[in-house]
Amino acid sequence: YWSVDNFSCKGENLTWIKEAALWITKGEVVAFPTETVYGLGANALDEQAVKKIFEAKGRPSDNPLIVHIAEQLQLTDLVTHIPDVAHTLMKHFWPGPLTIILKKKDTVAPSVTAGLDTVAIRIPNHPVARALLQEANVPVAAPSANLSGKPSPTSAAHVYHDLKGRIAGILDGGQTGVGVESTVLDCSKPTPILYRPGGVTKEEIEALIGPIQVDPSLHSENDAPLSPGMKYTHYSPTGTLYLVEDQTKIAPLIKQAQFEGKRVGVLTTTENEHKYEADVVVACGSRENLATVASGLYESLRMFDEKEAEIIFSEVFPNEHLGIAIMNRLQKAAIATM
Ligand code: TXA
Ligand code: MG
Repeated sequence: YWSVDNFSCKGENLTWIKEAALWITKGEVVAFPTETVYGLGANALDEQAVKKIFEAKGRPSDNPLIVHIAEQLQLTDLVTHIPDVAHTLMKHFWPGPLTIILKKKDTVAPSVTAGLDTVAIRIPNHPVARALLQEANVPVAAPSANLSGKPSPTSAAHVYHDLKGRIAGILDGGQTGVGVESTVLDCSKPTPILYRPGGVTKEEIEALIGPIQVDPSLHSENDAPLSPGMKYTHYSPTGTLYLVEDQTKIAPLIKQAQFEGKRVGVLTTTENEHKYEADVVVACGSRENLATVASGLYESLRMFDEKEAEIIFSEVFPNEHLGIAIMNRLQKAAIATM
């Protein structure tokens, strides 16, 4: 556990960051903060090191990783071609929560891309992440630093809870900001395809480059996702989570479940938290500002495990802007919508 201060990567902080970078160059895995969620990093050019990520997380080997770089120049070693739209997107959104998929070069370790001929890349917008990437001086493959299937970690304590004893160390940079993962956009196709909604919204992307395609599986359960990782259930608390479209139904649902002897949780917002008499009431943020909901979402989902909720009812959010990413994660975590 190396505790660092987010805003100065000098002095003692830099000592810890250097130590973490050294482990990465030696082929080990370390967790580090990004602006979205904590990542679990290894040298993306070292196949043996990358394999350790999959082992530590219990991640299926057909699910490719995102490669994190410190600056755009590093792309030359990783991809064969950068289309104009990708350049435009990088200029506007990097560093930041947008992951861009491009045709890969063979320098990238095969496990990183799970055998695909494309690689996902982003420059994170977090001082500790960027200092670490600079010090390590290699591209760093990193999925979210949670056990596979669990909510992504937004604090070092979450990483510690899931991965203690399984990795070389954790750089603790406090709470992450955005709270949901990066947007994943495939720019290796003639028209970019959105695979995973995230920190950069579809509306923001389209305002810059015009209409994009959206993976059909994001709208319909009948289509298989185009991106391997999107087929897995994710983010699930141990208790059974239901999304409830009509908020007025939540209070009677709580009563019914309590009558059945269950320990009941409710995922709500600061506007509504006073309305519910459940065993565990968690407000993840304010409806007035969906960025606060995104930021608090995973911590809230983890709270239900900590407080041992057996059944959880969640409010839903508007399917636009950041609400799209929030609803995508809630739908993956939930057993059903009612
Ligand atoms: O915000 C984030 O993106 C965080 C931080 C640590 O950067 N990382 C993260 O990584 O969320 P991960 O591994 O949990 O999610 C990566 C997603 C998966 O859904 C994976 O299937 C997809 O990106 N992906 C990666 N490479 C791909 C490729 N070549 N083609 C299609 N999908 C790809
Ligand atoms: Mg993940």
